[in-house]
Amino acid sequence: MKVGFIGLGLMGYAMASRLASKGYKLIVYNRTRAKAESLAKEFDVEVASSPKEVGLHSDVVHIMVSDDYALMDVVLSNDGLVNGLNEGKIVIQHSTITPMTSLRIMNVIKAARSTYVEAPVLGSVSEAREGRLITYVSGDKDYTKLPTISELSRSVIYVGPVPKASALKLAINNIFLVLVTSIAESLALVSAYGIDCKEFLKIVRETTWMKSIIERYEDRGLNPKFPTRFKLGLAVKDLRYFANALQYLGIPANTSMGASNVYALAVKDGLSLNDYSNIMYYMCKLGKKFRG
Ligand SMILES: NC(=O)c1ccc[n+]([C@@H]2O[C@H](COP(=O)([O-])OP(=O)(O)OC[C@H]3O[C@@H](n4cnc5c(N)ncnc54)[C@H](OP(=O)(O)O)[C@@H]3O)[C@@H](O)[C@H]2O)c1
Repeated sequence: MKVGFIGLGLMGYAMASRLASKGYKLIVYNRTRAKAESLAKEFDVEVASSPKEVGLHSDVVHIMVSDDYALMDVVLSNDGLVNGLNEGKIVIQHSTITPMTSLRIMNVIKAARSTYVEAPVLGSVSEAREGRLITYVSGDKDYTKLPTISELSRSVIYVGPVPKASALKLAINNIFLVLVTSIAESLALVSAYGIDCKEFLKIVRETTWMKSIIERYEDRGLNPKFPTRFKLGLAVKDLRYFANALQYLGIPANTSMGASNVYALAVKDGLSLNDYSNIMYYMCKLGKKFRG
């Protein structure tokens, strides 16, 4: 079986590395070719010049790109994947996108007589490299057993028809992204009143039930040099996609929109490529500016 991989950012590179290290024959494409070439230096993989070429030369194609626009580019453009598909090919879409776009892409892929599997993932770079992702699958249930999905995952959970997995993934991300923003806002207030941010987190850890949450974020969130696992700029995207999907149904999305605006402020100040948890560092610093 020949496997295609489109999108070699933080996650895609790690996932493709996992598959290549397990002996799969890969053909890969990335918009910035240097990343594909760097993977080809590490593993015996073929580098394609377009998503279409990946489609033409593989049986199963995995896609891991940043957002709806990136997905539309790699699938729908002139040299996009859809122009390299034909009967019997399988496209596995891992990016975190809106349910609406996922449905659109599914229809295009079906029209090319190929199969669309929605498979967003939970976990980050190290989990991807070690095959320990949690993968939520929508589409035909049989595809939960696809060997490449199993190779990447410690758990594969079938959710139902497309686009349920995309909706579920946005709903999960909304919870932890809002949670981290609320910690960050608390840091802004205490630092404005002269309380050290580290000390504050220690007090919360020791005196409330939120010990495990604080333990997860206290070093990482306040350290602007923490190696990025999930880009802060993508947190804005996920929260806005979540809010849009909810508002589309006529349900208010005030918390997620509010949180996305906090992350967007940090993006404006140059933190887009930092780890999303650095919103804590950013708000702590912001609070300090207001100290009398
Ligand atoms: N990082 C995580 O922990 C994590 C975990 C679970 C899910 N996710 C989701 O997984 C997806 C990828 O995340 P990531 O962390 O790997 O992001 P990333 O490092 O920013 O990589 C984004 C990828 O998308 C490509 N891309 C962006 N715009 C494009 C366009 N217009 N046309 C073609 N390719 C384009 C980039 O190509 P270039 O290299 O040319 O820029 C790159 O390969 C996102 O949807 C994210 O929300 C991330």
